[in-house]
Amino acid sequence: MKQVHGPDSASEAVIQLQKVVKTFKNAAGEFHVLKGIDLTLLRGEFVAIVGKSGSGKSTLLNMITGIDHPTGGQVVINGVNIYEMNESQRALWRGKNLGIVFQFFQLLPMLTLLENVMLPMDYVGMYDFDERPKRAMELLKMVGLEKQANKLPAAVSTGQQQSAAIARSLANDPPVIAADEPTGNLDSRSAEAIIDLFGHLVHSGKTIAMVTHDPSLTEQTSRTIIISDGELVDETVAHCLPLLGHSQMGEATRHLERFTYQPGSTIIQQDQHVDYFFMIVSGVVEVNLCNQLGKNVTITRLGLGDFFGEVELLRGGKSIACVLAASDGPVELVALHRDEFHKLLSESPLTEETIGRIVQARMEENRRADQRRPGKGAKRP
Ligand SMILES: Nc1ncnc2c1ncn2[C@@H]1O[C@H](COP(=O)(O)OP(=O)(O)O)[C@@H](O)[C@H]1O
Ligand SMILES: [Mg+2]
Repeated sequence: MKQVHGPDSASEAVIQLQKVVKTFKNAAGEFHVLKGIDLTLLRGEFVAIVGKSGSGKSTLLNMITGIDHPTGGQVVINGVNIYEMNESQRALWRGKNLGIVFQFFQLLPMLTLLENVMLPMDYVGMYDFDERPKRAMELLKMVGLEKQANKLPAAVSTGQQQSAAIARSLANDPPVIAADEPTGNLDSRSAEAIIDLFGHLVHSGKTIAMVTHDPSLTEQTSRTIIISDGELVDETVAHCLPLLGHSQMGEATRHLERFTYQPGSTIIQQDQHVDYFFMIVSGVVEVNLCNQLGKNVTITRLGLGDFFGEVELLRGGKSIACVLAASDGPVELVALHRDEFHKLLSESPLTEETIGRIVQARMEENRRADQRRPGKGAKRP
């Protein structure tokens, strides 16, 4: 069974991007690579950042590492606004707070693995001079490389080079690891070993942001962020409509409307027109068959990542059930207006087919529930 690595304690924001914009200028004019990114990563999250080539993944990661700087907006890491520091302050801050792992490892070829791992310690000076070799050795041991410690990078496999680069990224025990396609140059077995290693680090409380375009890896992260053309795809949209292409998800995100319902309030009334495809961001809703006196039979309860309204939008009729906000706290929804919803379905036959099947199943469920209604169908003992 696949293990999913996620935060286990109370949520604590470690990385916060607010309205981050990155624009490059060249002879042809301005090019907007990041178009206003809002993103919060919590302590202990293992986050995959995915997107097509050129969508802005590396640029986004470089905003977190402070390797590049934004044209606008703010990046706050562990409470520190990193672009309020000057370059040299930020370099020192990065050495202590961030472990960075690249696709091509970037180990220094003339230094042994042990020396490579010690290098960031020498730069930051957090550990005593005498302590450093022992600490570097412990890190290499952790990634299974104690026997290779005195070899040069060229003398070990690419998977081992990347493991050494991860050991190096941990040199100063940083709370955050940023990795740009860390498995992009590895065979699948070595890639798996690297992801397992990341999983262990996450369990020990590290936060990891990993750019990847390998979908098999995202099954093991606690969260996937999709970037499309410099904008983040709404995570609820990506979860509810996974068969859309990234640019269609981006389009849906731009058209989202947000709704909040207090506990007990009605979201959809029975026999009314429905204008939206609703997706649940948080809270629980109850789908009921209702009569004039109120709730009659509960068909189902839906939560995070579930959706409703599609039956009415696809059948074109009035609502076949009523939907109530049923959690203790407010229900947060994102919704697509019916025109936008139909447009998306027409552009994504796979999504249309999948939702069509869900409509069939739900209508069937509804018919069965209707049989259980007091005064209807077979009497129960
Ligand atoms: N220094 C730069 N100057 C101009 N354009 C850049 C620069 N860095 C990146 N870009 C452009 O920004 C876009 C996103 O790049 P990048 O973040 O590297 O994408 P990804 O990592 O998703 O493939 C690309 O079109 C790229 O050409
Ligand atoms: Mg890249």
